[in-house]
Amino acid sequence: MLSEKSIQMIKSTVPVLEVHGVTITKRFYELLFGNHPELLNLFNHANQMQGRQQTALANTVYAAALHIDNLPAIIPVVKQIGHKHRSLGVKAEHYPIVGKYLLMAIKDVLVDAATDDILQAWAEAYGVIADAFIGIEAEMYEQTRTQAGGWEGFRAFRVERKVKESDVISSFYLVPEDGGALAEFEPGQYVSIKMQIAGEEHTHIRQYSLSDSSGKAYYRISVKREDAGQDRPAGKVSTYLHEHIHEGAIVWLSAPAGDFTLNQADERPVVLLSGGVGLTPMISMLNKLAEKYPERPVTFIHAAQNGNVHAMKDAVTTLALSHPQLSVYYCYEKPTEQDRNEKAFHKEGYIDLAWLKQAIADPNAQYYFCGPVPFMQAINRALHSMDIPESDIHFEFFGPAASLEPV
Ligand code: HEM
Repeated sequence: MLSEKSIQMIKSTVPVLEVHGVTITKRFYELLFGNHPELLNLFNHANQMQGRQQTALANTVYAAALHIDNLPAIIPVVKQIGHKHRSLGVKAEHYPIVGKYLLMAIKDVLVDAATDDILQAWAEAYGVIADAFIGIEAEMYEQTRTQAGGWEGFRAFRVERKVKESDVISSFYLVPEDGGALAEFEPGQYVSIKMQIAGEEHTHIRQYSLSDSSGKAYYRISVKREDAGQDRPAGKVSTYLHEHIHEGAIVWLSAPAGDFTLNQADERPVVLLSGGVGLTPMISMLNKLAEKYPERPVTFIHAAQNGNVHAMKDAVTTLALSHPQLSVYYCYEKPTEQDRNEKAFHKEGYIDLAWLKQAIADPNAQYYFCGPVPFMQAINRALHSMDIPESDIHFEFFGPAASLEPV
């Protein structure tokens, strides 16, 4: 347990560290990768370059430090990150390494302001925070190891089918190469895929939501090809999957993870809202609802730019034909002429509050959403305007978790 003196010292230095947050974590990663280049196999280099992971780790350590005398308050956050860590293969023995270079970075940046007392207090605090992560992650490792069809680390899967779903999204149907059983998973969960790209020194790991319900002989992921944009390079792994991974290829997956999952016990209606490739966890939830709870009212709302990039439309439309409790709405930002001729959408432009209110028959529902950040901000604002309680609002970010602006 930390002494009262250390707790006060931690709390009073958090604001100082926050001011220098990005500089400290930048220095931290220089030291970490300089001394442990093998860890470059674990981290997402694109997130590193864009500074996203830098701020994610720093902010979490500081936020945890502020709750150092009441760590149970941040257990949900630790669990969410723990899922990601477990799925990547972060182990207990990595924590002292990260702690060592984080402290060195604090010292390097703050220089004389980082007194021995302060460094000592932070070393203790990091130890307490790391133990919370290690404990939760140990339970997660145990669960995936002992679950029927579960496994530890990365397992070889063969691409049984590759299906083009739209101009930019393709699905990969993956079966275990060892012919063994497949672990059940919760709709909404993701898998990590580890890719060795020809000519590259380090492996790349990415997370993709499972896009079908569990209980099948395969896992399915549906991947958007991320082309280069004005401010970002092309997605390394997504491009590689699209261009080089064909039927028969082997890919490596860790067991399903993630806490963005459908609450199946709640019998109220469900509203699933997605933008672009954010539809993948929603399709998993939708299929599970249709298979297991055919009486439960479901509203499925999907926003896409137009019909050319609208994935899995036929599957959802067909499902709705045989499931009268399922209402489906498509919103196109910029419909094509063909979309107009085919009356392929229900709303043109962005989803707004007035439209959402009339689309949702019974607002006393559970709400799940995923998509690009501006889409998620708009939906979050709309749901709060509708006075939907926080406990009924569930969402997931693709990429490092960020915060939705206050509403
Ligand atoms: C991801 C925090 C220790 C490796 C993350 C994220 C956070 C975080 C906030 C982003 C989660 C998300 O994507 O939503 C922490 C904290 C730690 C810690 C507070 C210490 C107490 C470690 C250790 C390792 C590690 C010891 C292994 C060396 C990673 C990796 C990712 C990650 C590889 C994925 C990020 C990416 O590649 O972009 N961590 N972490 N973390 N963490 Fe940790």
